[in-house]
Amino acid sequence: MTLAAGLFIGVSQPAAADPPSHDQAPHQHWSFDGPLGNFDLASVQRGYAVYAEICSVCHGMQHVRFGDLAGMGLNAAQVQAIAASHKIPDGIGTDGAPAMRSATADDSFPTPPIAQGLIPGAVIPPDQSRLAEVYPGGPDRIYALLTGYGPPPAGVTPPPGLFYNRFAQARAIAMPPPLSDDAIEYADGTKATTEQEARDVTTFLAWVAQPHLAERHRTGVRVMLYLVFLGVLLFFLKRRLWSNVH
Ligand code: HEC
Repeated sequence: MTLAAGLFIGVSQPAAADPPSHDQAPHQHWSFDGPLGNFDLASVQRGYAVYAEICSVCHGMQHVRFGDLAGMGLNAAQVQAIAASHKIPDGIGTDGAPAMRSATADDSFPTPPIAQGLIPGAVIPPDQSRLAEVYPGGPDRIYALLTGYGPPPAGVTPPPGLFYNRFAQARAIAMPPPLSDDAIEYADGTKATTEQEARDVTTFLAWVAQPHLAERHRTGVRVMLYLVFLGVLLFFLKRRLWSNVH
């Protein structure tokens, strides 16, 4: 008895007086949720546009190649055009200065100087290749964070250089609010509200973090159908085998 009690007392109790360090992100409905979830590719494409125009100024995606973008429904020419619009380092030129060349489908997304730690004193923005998978709270919290900026409540002042955000750790973050209404013009005519941009870029980040989700789900469904079929077959086989036993 004493041992059991000791075990339970040993379990750490959250100090009741400590407020949680950030608000809980509300659950959002995502196209990729659940075992049958599938990415809304139109949203993934809009989200890529948000990444390319806004987030990529500070965040890299070093584990993603331009060629991977084909998976969101682009053809080879569109992928080539996107790759070619990026310049990447290419050793040292004949003049001894660092040379640059246009990227190809095989190249990875470049990491901007701030994310390489080249800006003294700047907080380093995390790489976004797998962010939706590794960020505590996942897509729900990324969406909440992107839409969660606002004036701090009375009496609260974020530390210098940080912005108040109720979903950030300790409710303060070094990233300035990256989104705003009409911060981007969508090619498909969708109205670019802050919420829409946040939803699309979060969908893009979730897709980039697991581009094979749809394939895995399709395989899962096929395996389930096969197992159901096998079950029915075994059921009838058993009936037949035992039909003479009375
Ligand atoms: C001006 C530079 C800048 C831009 C533009 C920017 N970020 Fe950030 N971001 C940062 C920095 C710096 C951090 C690290 C913040 C910290 O640790 O306080 C960060 C952190 C994050 C985090 C992790 C937050 C956390 O709590 O650690 C997410 C998620 C994020 N950014 C998403 C985005 C998305 C999505 C976009 C594009 C819509 C974007 N960022 C655009 C600079 C930027």
